[in-house]
Amino acid sequence: MLKILVCVSGGGTNLQAIIDGVENQTIRNVQIVRVLSNNPNAYALQRAGEHGIDACCISPKSYESRELFHAALLHAVDEVSPDLIVLAGFLVVIPMELIAKYRNRIINIHPSLIPAFCGTGYYGLKVHEAALARGVKVTGATVHYVDEGTDTGPIILQKAVSVKADDTPKSLQQRVMEEAEWIILPKAIDMIANDEMEA
Ligand code: GAR
Repeated sequence: MLKILVCVSGGGTNLQAIIDGVENQTIRNVQIVRVLSNNPNAYALQRAGEHGIDACCISPKSYESRELFHAALLHAVDEVSPDLIVLAGFLVVIPMELIAKYRNRIINIHPSLIPAFCGTGYYGLKVHEAALARGVKVTGATVHYVDEGTDTGPIILQKAVSVKADDTPKSLQQRVMEEAEWIILPKAIDMIANDEMEA
C-alpha cells in the first residue's frame, strides 16, 4: 500500500478525483493518510472529513516567521511518513528542506502543457488567462515531479485540451480540469503505486 499525503489550498476537485479513484479502485494499492491545507477555509478539508480522511491545516498566518511555518509544515508531513506527497492545487512555495527530504517523492499537477504557461506567477486562473491572451489553440495539464525550481521537475504525464473560440478563463479552467487534470493525476498516482511508470 502506497501511503499518500495530499496537499491542497482551495476547492479540492483534484483531491476529490483522487478520493473517488481510491474508493472505486481505479487507483490501486493507495491509502490517503492525510490531507494538508495551508488555508483553513479550503473546501478540500471538508471533502477529506466527509470521507473519514485525516485533515490538517497549517496556516502561515498562525506562525511568526516563514521558518516556523516551514518547520510546522515539515512536521505535519513527517508525522504521517508518506511514501508520496501529491500537490493538488497547493499554492505554497515548497520549502527546500521538504524537497530534499522527499526527493522524487513529490508530484504536482499544473494546468498547462509545461513548458508553456508555467513558473513563478502562473497558478490557477492566471494560467488560463495567459493561454487565452496568447491565443493558443491547444492547452492541457501536466503531472510532474517537484524539484527545486518552479514547475521544472521531470514530466510524468500530460494531456492536451482544445481551446474554443468563445472560451473564458473560467470555462477553459473547468474543461482542463474535466478533460485532463482529473484523469492524469489519479493515473499518475496509480502508476507510481503499481510500478508502472513509463520510461
Ligand atoms: C487546479 O487547476 C490545479 O491544476 C491548479 O490549481 C487548481 C486547484 O483546483 N494548480 C496550480 O495552478 C499549481 N501551479 P482544485 O483545488 O479544485 O483541485
